[in-house]
Amino acid sequence: MSNPVFKSIYIYYFSGTGNAKAVAHWIADEIRDDIPNIYIYNIDKDRDIHLPHPGKKSMIGICYPTHGFNAPPIVLKFISALQKGHNQQAFLVNTRAGMKMWKFFTYGLSGIALWLPSFILLLKNYKRIRIRSIDLPSNWIAFHPGIKKSVVKSIVNNWEKVSRKFAKKLLSGEKSYRSLLDLPFDILISPIAVVYYLIGRFFLAKTYIAGNKCTQCDLCIKNCPVGAIRKINDRPFWTYKCESCMRCLNLCPQKAIEVPHLYIGLILLGTSLLSNYAFSEIILPNLDNIELLWQKIVSFLVWNMISLPIYFLVYKITHHLMAIKIISNIITWLSLTHLKFWRRYKFPIKNKD
Ligand SMILES: Cc1cc2nc3c(=O)[nH]c(=O)nc-3n(C[C@H](O)[C@H](O)[C@H](O)COP(=O)(O)O)c2cc1C
Ligand code: SF4
Ligand code: SF4
Repeated sequence: MSNPVFKSIYIYYFSGTGNAKAVAHWIADEIRDDIPNIYIYNIDKDRDIHLPHPGKKSMIGICYPTHGFNAPPIVLKFISALQKGHNQQAFLVNTRAGMKMWKFFTYGLSGIALWLPSFILLLKNYKRIRIRSIDLPSNWIAFHPGIKKSVVKSIVNNWEKVSRKFAKKLLSGEKSYRSLLDLPFDILISPIAVVYYLIGRFFLAKTYIAGNKCTQCDLCIKNCPVGAIRKINDRPFWTYKCESCMRCLNLCPQKAIEVPHLYIGLILLGTSLLSNYAFSEIILPNLDNIELLWQKIVSFLVWNMISLPIYFLVYKITHHLMAIKIISNIITWLSLTHLKFWRRYKFPIKNKD
């Protein structure tokens, strides 16, 4: 029987490795019999994205991964560009880094990933914004090997049920205060979200390299949702536009995209020593009576002002040097991602687009 409150639901999603896309489809599947018109749009791929019908009988939903305790920039841009609402209801789902320890499912952390987009939607005249986090398998394989297949299956089964329940609640209007439980911790980690957004993501963008197994097939370049990979010297080169969604790392057929952890560690150590020297020997003696907190802030700024440009320069030089086979082999070898046990991650079930 069709739902008396809603005639159409517009679900928009962005997904690096398939988790948020799966949630968008689970929600749509669960309510398909009740709602005559359900539209699902992939915001990085679909050309003809329909915006919500300006009537109270439509609802919009946005599903996306959490990146650095925030929504990814592509999602924030999409929400900011969304037309003004007409008091329509809305829902937001962020997928987070779920894991499983023994028999227990562990949760990720949202920070401002739900609160900031909710705030933007409120300003745009959407109302009754329902929010939910879904803790699907962590895809951050730059930091940890992909989760084992059997564990992935178990996590997915668990959170599919939660997503479907959430979908039912959207229609019934049942209230849920689950996300308020996370609020104190979300507030506590929100400064990290800001630092990630302003600095961290640009640094991460420059941690990927095409290692010695790259066959120059260009698949990573063609599939990047934000067009962040360029071809320089016949090799993929990661630009600042990269949002670290992990799609390319997980899609490369040769598993050739690496994060040279040990190499990055060495460069950071070198630049840290340099910036510490600059701070303690040059800047601090000229800043009499400065408060401890300010010392820390100035030290942090100095660190970034010195370390990041050096790091970015070294990244560019490394890219050119990697045309030499032996150097390419050494840098690849300094990556933990090249180790056999360092699995890649992609959501296991294929969804219709
Ligand atoms: C760069 C990066 C940052 C991430 N930051 C967070 C985070 O702050 N909190 C969290 O719970 N998960 C975090 N994750 C994990 C992803 O949000 C999570 O695995 C998500 O389900 C992936 O969804 P997708 O497959 O739709 O891209 C991060 C992953 C990446 C790659
Ligand atoms: S997908 Fe892999 S093999 Fe193909 S160009 Fe990119 S890094 Fe190289
Ligand atoms: S370069 Fe790779 S990790 Fe970065 S946004 Fe594109 S697909 Fe995602």
